Amino acid sequence: MKNLFDAVELNNLHLKNRLVRSATWEGIADFDGSIDENTYEIYRELAKGGVGAIITGFTSVSTNDFYFGGMMRLSDNKLIPQYKKLVEIIHVEDCAAIIQLALGAFYDKNFVEVSENNLSTENVREIIKMFVDAAIRAEICGFDGVQIHAAHFFFLSRFISPLVNHRTDEFGGSIENRAKILLEILRGIKKSAPKLHITIKINSSDFTSGGLDENESIFICKMLFNAGIDSIEVSGNGTSVGGIKAGVNEGYFADFAAKLADEVKIPVICVGGWRSRQVMEEFLNKTRVELISLSRPLIREPDFPKKLFADKNSVSKCVSCNACYKTPAHRCIFSGRRG
Ligand SMILES: Cc1cc2nc3c(=O)[nH]c(=O)nc-3n(C[C@H](O)[C@H](O)[C@H](O)COP(=O)(O)O)c2cc1C
Ligand code: SF4
Repeated sequence: MKNLFDAVELNNLHLKNRLVRSATWEGIADFDGSIDENTYEIYRELAKGGVGAIITGFTSVSTNDFYFGGMMRLSDNKLIPQYKKLVEIIHVEDCAAIIQLALGAFYDKNFVEVSENNLSTENVREIIKMFVDAAIRAEICGFDGVQIHAAHFFFLSRFISPLVNHRTDEFGGSIENRAKILLEILRGIKKSAPKLHITIKINSSDFTSGGLDENESIFICKMLFNAGIDSIEVSGNGTSVGGIKAGVNEGYFADFAAKLADEVKIPVICVGGWRSRQVMEEFLNKTRVELISLSRPLIREPDFPKKLFADKNSVSKCVSCNACYKTPAHRCIFSGRRG
């Protein structure tokens, strides 16, 4: 029987329970990626709330990435002390720290976005190196793991999608070629930062005609498994579905996650619309999925894990309105602070 509060051992990673904070962009880093007490306070509160691991908001691997405002960055060695402090704050609470490495888009020297199909092969290699270099910095900072952000139509998600990638070089065309960028990032990180747990967040489907579908997503996940990825978090375009009600329509990527967990022999993490302990535990026990990840419930109540531990019947207060996408520091509209 799986219990939400079992301790679990993953490759290079110990978790005190099966609950993971899914990456959540706060949008309050300085332009150069610097972070301060405002960010530290958010992560301190999250770690105190009892979650087993925190995946940071997306953190750009590039200094030249202007895709979203207030992005964290791990694109320069000068940022290492600030992110090291972030790790220390999270570790105080026996919580694992995983940094989500992402690229929004590639910009040229004139700050103009270069489309996935117009990048030279050399540019693609430069991007792979940026991910590996950021992971090396993450290891120096003391992070327990890195997550490669290949979901939600961020750069890597677009790059592996047949809807977007019409390249004719070694990085385009067949599914193997489109996925090659992920495999090279994975191999580079394994070689250069061997102490890290390496996970990936990937779309189960782009949910768009001509985009990545479930069969292709499983195919890519199997390639990643064979190349040594440590765990996979399942998401999809249509990221934060509204109108979720506890006990009614929880876990909107559950079917895909269950299917994937039968295909790969590594832990699968399922995000998307989990709101009650009963439903989460039922799902874990009827599938091979190992971990559940949460975003909005922890914006609403950073101490939701502690509440679930204390009372099996407690349910998230999050009403899935998505207003927090537009608030300063992505706080919940139902509170002055995040709780
Ligand atoms: C304000 C906000 C910011 C988010 N930022 C990220 C992010 O940085 N990286 C990411 O992969 N997903 C991000 N997401 C998506 C969540 O991680 C999650 O996949 C989605 O909200 C569904 O889970 P939930 O029902 O537990 O919220 C964000 C969601 C919200 C609401
Ligand atoms: S604003 Fe609050 S209630 Fe609405 S989705 Fe965000 S966390 Fe949930």
